[in-house]
Amino acid sequence: MSVLFRSFINKGRKNLFKKLLNSTQSTCRCVFFRKYSGSEKKFVSFDEIVAQRRSEAKRSIVVQVNSQASFKELYGYCSKYATIKDVHHYKNNNDEHFMLIEFGSEESLQDVLRSCSTHQKDLDTMAVNSPFLWFRTANGKTENYATPTTVLASINGIEQVNEDKLFKELVDCETVSDQIQLLYDRTRLNDLGVRLRYMVARQIECMLESLYANVAVRPFGSSINGFGKMGCDLDLVLTNTLTDEMWYWRGVQTRAGARLVAQTARVEGGRAPWARHMQALGELLELRAAGAARVQRILNARVPIVKFAHHYTDLECDLCYNNMSGVYMSELLWLFGSLDDRVRPLTFAVRRWARAVGLTNPHPGRWITNFPLTLMVLFFLQQKTNDGHVLPTLKNLVRRAGKEDIRIAEENLNCTFLRDMNKLPPECYAQNKVNLQTLLLQFFEFYSQFDFQDKAISINEGISVRKPNSLPLYIVNPLEQALNVSRNVSFEECERLKAEVRNAAWQLEAGMDKQKGDDWGLLGLVEKKTTRGLKKLLRVGNSHRLVSVKDLFNDTDDKIPEDSVKSKVE
Ligand code: CTP
Ligand code: MG
Repeated sequence: MSVLFRSFINKGRKNLFKKLLNSTQSTCRCVFFRKYSGSEKKFVSFDEIVAQRRSEAKRSIVVQVNSQASFKELYGYCSKYATIKDVHHYKNNNDEHFMLIEFGSEESLQDVLRSCSTHQKDLDTMAVNSPFLWFRTANGKTENYATPTTVLASINGIEQVNEDKLFKELVDCETVSDQIQLLYDRTRLNDLGVRLRYMVARQIECMLESLYANVAVRPFGSSINGFGKMGCDLDLVLTNTLTDEMWYWRGVQTRAGARLVAQTARVEGGRAPWARHMQALGELLELRAAGAARVQRILNARVPIVKFAHHYTDLECDLCYNNMSGVYMSELLWLFGSLDDRVRPLTFAVRRWARAVGLTNPHPGRWITNFPLTLMVLFFLQQKTNDGHVLPTLKNLVRRAGKEDIRIAEENLNCTFLRDMNKLPPECYAQNKVNLQTLLLQFFEFYSQFDFQDKAISINEGISVRKPNSLPLYIVNPLEQALNVSRNVSFEECERLKAEVRNAAWQLEAGMDKQKGDDWGLLGLVEKKTTRGLKKLLRVGNSHRLVSVKDLFNDTDDKIPEDSVKSKVE
């Protein structure tokens, strides 16, 4: 990249950060969607948020400490080296305590890292830059540190909500809409959850930077698409630092005429070079990434991945290579979620219901997963009902794209669509003001009547399209329309989906009244389906709408063993 081009981009980046910092300084940091009046910007872009998160991670460290009480000492010690912006405390499943410290600048973080030591002297030559550290007990007399000028930004910050407490709160809500909103507020991925996901990405990036000059490790999927819940897995992609700007500035960058060309290593053996790199990456994770455990290489899949568990953050991670379409898909989902405040709470309710009735399952298999389920919600919200639609079609966003929106992912996949939602005319979205309770009921009713036999779901068109094959469930991949994102779903699972949406429509309609007991409204849908729950359903059954899940399995030879029903609950 020419020096001129690099400085041009850096200047652009600096302005972007400046603009972003100014626009978010006075608000709570985990809320990025702001309503502006008059001519000011109403929507912040996905790229701005990713840039802010990546920059935060580059200024942060995660330190293992004895307890929450270590805060004062750690703060005093670190503030000798650099200005501290924020400190967050959390515990992992092993009851180990950690502090995430965000410093004022990347330079200050470097000063702190330079002051670190490895505790095994013989490994100093093999030291690796890592933002995951631990705080050693002081030798001899303790220094007198200055009192922190700030309090902990979060205490026990990634603790998941207690289910009993949540259910109690849901019982006490006034309306089903309040229940849906509460479920979203209590279970969605919080600020610290997002920060830690970017910290793991940063750790791997640091590890690889000395080997790969332009490497960037980016989170994608539910960690960043606005539909993630606390504890969701971490999808990571190994990509190029230039990707963000590359397509927009493609015309400016002319490397074709360069006469000095880098020599590259000749990779011999049967496997493709990238497969060898992924193989090596697995080794590196085992050898060099503190906290990474249970590394598994799955290299024969359509999108090959390296899976690992991250002990310090309790995250299950899937790392893939050169899958920018996954990132653009996350961006698309994020944009749809940001257009209307009801989209994410509604999706959370649907995802939670699907989990409770065993339609989704944490293990891969012949059932539907959260991603296609989210597309089903978006598709429903695109429907032009008498009340008006909530979301635009993807076709509409593609039509409005400008040259700054051009993105070409791997295998020449065109991922171009409008990115700046401020340019979307108001009549394209949020056209109805229907409450969440009604939307949820309408969702179940809509899919109770959907022609799964002949029709496919397409958020590109916003209307059902003819299925190109006889697969039981067909949900068009929005960025690669020849593909079906639910091709793994079996006939039996699709039948179960159809039965469960009918059950849910009936159950919700019958249970709207708060006086009807402690499983009213959303509770009847999101509580685990125990035998007691099923029996109760069957007892009050309404024959034309209610289909017994038990009967359904009796009709097929696809029996669900008791223990797998249990494992279906995450
Ligand atoms: N993805 C895709 N095409 C698919 C499946 C997945 O593009 N057929 C992308 C989507 O961006 C998706 C991401 O890969 O969000 C991660 O997939 P997955 O982990 O299955 O879904 P999540 O959205 O992360 O949901 P979950 O919370 O269940 O992990
Ligand atoms: Mg995921």
